[in-house]
Amino acid sequence: MSLLIWCHIYLVLVSAAQNASFTPQHIRTLQNETKSLFNHAWQSYMKFGFPADEVLPLSCEPYGRDFNDPFNIVRNDAMGNISSTVLDNLDTLVIMEEWDEFENALDYLKASKNTLFAKDTIVQVFETTIRSLGGLLSAHLILSDISQFSQRYTRLAEIAEKYDGFLLDMAYDLGKRLIPAFRTKSSIPLPRVHLNHGLKLIPPSLQIDACTSGAGSPVLEFTLLSRLTGDPQFEYFSQVSFWKIWASRSSLGLMPMTIDPQSARWKDAVSGIGASIDSFYEYAVKSSIIFNDSHMWEVFKSSYKSLLTHSVQGGGPLDATMIFTNVGSNDGQLFTDWIDSLSAFWPGLQVLAGQLKDAVKTHLLYLRIWDYFDSIPERWNFRLSDKSTSAVALEWYPLRPEFIESTYYLYRATKDPMYLQIGSRVLKLLQTRYMAKCGLHGVQDIRTGQMQNRMETFVMSETLKYLYLLFDAANELFVHNGMLASKSWVFSTEAHPLWFHEQLDVLGKRTDINATNLHAQDHFKLKEVFEKELALKGGQKRLGAFVKKSNIDFYRKTPNKNQNRTIIHLPAVSTVDPYELKFATCEVIAFDKMIEFPASHYYELENLFELDWKFQGSLSRPPYLSQNPLDGSYIELDPDFFSLFSMSRTNLQSRRAASTQIYDVIVGDVAGIQEKEISIFKFKPSTAVDEAVVLENDLWIPDLTAMRIRVEVLEAGNVDIHNNVLTQEYIDSLADITADVDYQDPSYDVTKPKTALRVTKVNGIYVNSGSIVWTHPIHDNTGALSMTDLGRVMIEGKVVENMMVLWTDQDS
Ligand SMILES: *[C@@H]1O[C@H](CO)[C@@H](O)[C@H](O)[C@H]1NC(C)=O
Ligand SMILES: *[C@@H]1O[C@H](CO)[C@@H](O)[C@H](O)[C@H]1NC(C)=O
Ligand SMILES: *[C@@H]1O[C@H](CO)[C@@H](O)[C@H](O)[C@H]1NC(C)=O
Ligand SMILES: *[C@@H]1O[C@H](CO)[C@@H](O)[C@H](O)[C@H]1NC(C)=O
Ligand SMILES: *[C@@H]1O[C@H](CO)[C@@H](O)[C@H](O)[C@H]1NC(C)=O
Ligand SMILES: *[C@@H]1O[C@H](CO)[C@@H](O)[C@H](O)[C@H]1NC(C)=O
Repeated sequence: MSLLIWCHIYLVLVSAAQNASFTPQHIRTLQNETKSLFNHAWQSYMKFGFPADEVLPLSCEPYGRDFNDPFNIVRNDAMGNISSTVLDNLDTLVIMEEWDEFENALDYLKASKNTLFAKDTIVQVFETTIRSLGGLLSAHLILSDISQFSQRYTRLAEIAEKYDGFLLDMAYDLGKRLIPAFRTKSSIPLPRVHLNHGLKLIPPSLQIDACTSGAGSPVLEFTLLSRLTGDPQFEYFSQVSFWKIWASRSSLGLMPMTIDPQSARWKDAVSGIGASIDSFYEYAVKSSIIFNDSHMWEVFKSSYKSLLTHSVQGGGPLDATMIFTNVGSNDGQLFTDWIDSLSAFWPGLQVLAGQLKDAVKTHLLYLRIWDYFDSIPERWNFRLSDKSTSAVALEWYPLRPEFIESTYYLYRATKDPMYLQIGSRVLKLLQTRYMAKCGLHGVQDIRTGQMQNRMETFVMSETLKYLYLLFDAANELFVHNGMLASKSWVFSTEAHPLWFHEQLDVLGKRTDINATNLHAQDHFKLKEVFEKELALKGGQKRLGAFVKKSNIDFYRKTPNKNQNRTIIHLPAVSTVDPYELKFATCEVIAFDKMIEFPASHYYELENLFELDWKFQGSLSRPPYLSQNPLDGSYIELDPDFFSLFSMSRTNLQSRRAASTQIYDVIVGDVAGIQEKEISIFKFKPSTAVDEAVVLENDLWIPDLTAMRIRVEVLEAGNVDIHNNVLTQEYIDSLADITADVDYQDPSYDVTKPKTALRVTKVNGIYVNSGSIVWTHPIHDNTGALSMTDLGRVMIEGKVVENMMVLWTDQDS
């Protein structure tokens, strides 16, 4: 009897735990379920859609272009009448190990090799490149450049054995049909091309604007196509376009999003990281990896610096989240109050670029949006003050992959079980809400739940692929299993594995190629110019400093306005560029606190729930969705998961909200910021900390003529970002040193300053609590900047708590 009861309890516990346990067995079940979804979608396409570009998931019909309306670009851009679902999913079939289907697809393509792209259709160059050209190149590399096949992959080895290279011929054919788009005066490509007739027969109104990602990103696939075929034109034109766009960035280092390909003039002045610009940055990073191209890496680093300075909200050591907003490319001012669904790829790119902590913070916002909408609206307004209007600014969700893509990267980097929990929630929604008779369907209107009768090719090639790979904790699947271990491979922006190495390089070795009209020197000239520009930016800077000790005592010790001004001599102090430091190493630790596996670090984040109040006007579940946050929809509050992975926590608390006002001040010329020196003090450990008034990790900005400073307004009664209640005494203690004024003395008729300021970020670099921003003495006490007697900086008459002047050799 007692044994039976024990067994019963045990079984209940096991089954409760199994739903969120993430044991190897559980993860494998999730992986198998993802595979079943893929098989359902693929079989539906083959049965009801093939050879059309897509299948309609709700009505089970083939879906291709709208031959009657050339202006129906939403539908036609990615529909070349070229079986795009097949082309986009060749490597998906490999990753899913669907060998029969893979062979069938190859047989079909081989048979239609000479006719598939000979179509009277107008397509968008970017979409066709990333989906179809990228798919062909990836499958070609998989079949021709893998030498070691593990036991499990003998079928792939057999298929590869028979492969004669026809996919590269097809890629070359497609490339030659797309390349006319680049033959403009400016070399910035036109957005669309006619597969049979190049630039002819296209209504002019469809050729007006190119977007930054569309004109910049073919660079990865096109460069690879040139290297593999030996025909230089693809690399040449796409690189010229990429570098021209980069060279026309604003003085803030930001690229706008729309360009006129004929005149090469920008048509807007907005920058950001989402739609229309996203993959420009992505391909700078990914090109740098597969082509070992340091210039491309510099493009990303420089862009990231500009975005940190001007676009990022939050992101500091005490912020739960980090938002990359759309800002004016010339003035850095907030331009829109929405972020888009496509920008959810960014945390994945941050992981790839070694910015793991930033990635966790950026991803958290998308996670929270998913919690409330079971999807990510195409556009979501983050600034609503109340819930009376919907935050859903564009209402569809076509099962885009970007959120699950980032989740995949973050899981690979952190192994935090929360990312598996996210995957299992997404899987569950795909199995239920988004399940259709013939595939998976998206949402037409997130506000009402109205379904969308469409399954774009990326649903299988990205959304399901990344989800499947997320559940490959045992590293058994292709791309994780070691078969690509010797290659510098990346996922393209369409999740096609791509790589390159010298042995594959036939560029310049083929003689049957007609390379007229190429001006290769121009191309290399561009790179030279860029290299020079880079060389001008200094490396380490050194500073011999004498400092007035009294300064520091006010901040780091008890303020005392009567103390001696002793000049102490520091040994030569070295400083480093904080951006160089940021990119010098690849972050491998995402969370500061070490906790025991298998708990989730999420529950150790003090401010995990800060977002719920911060964005309370913009976050609410649409009425047709469950309003119960404990049913698993609010992923971090899933009771099963919480009970297993919160470990040290039995309840969750969120730090109280800061009530201080935070805003940015721009001092001087905003255009000068990108080139301004800002550095971090670095000392040898032997430096006596007691003696030093400057501490390691303090910042040094020698000249304050171009600054974007984020300030927190310190006012009595408010809770600051450190969770302290500010008192008048504290503000007085800062203010007292503004002059030798004794406020207690009734003969002085001076009102005490009510507020002081605290710098939290300057020129994109966050100021840690306890750190000071140092600068040279300020001599112009009339402008926006001035200085107190004892050397505290004042901005517009307000004393800054943590910004002080440093008397160096030249000043004394
Ligand atoms: C586990 O999940 C399944 C299916 O999602 C559900 O039917 C079952 O009730 C869950 N079990 C427990 C113990 O929560
Ligand atoms: C997953 O699928 C594989 C292959 O179909 C099968 O051998 C295995 O038993 C499945 N595992 C689970 C946990 O369902
Ligand atoms: C091309 O379009 C025609 C007309 O809709 C269709 O019958 C045919 O199957 C399509 N072929 C491909 C390869 O998409
Ligand atoms: C990458 O380029 C650098 C020089 O820029 C070179 O030292 C290094 O060996 C190259 N790496 C590979 C894998 O080719
Ligand atoms: C190369 O192409 C140019 C123009 O595209 C043409 O005039 C020339 O005859 C071609 N040369 C060869 C050898 O095919
Ligand atoms: C100030 O400096 C004088 C002279 O160097 C010294 O005698 C005195 O003790 C110092 N006072 C304090 C408070 O350090």
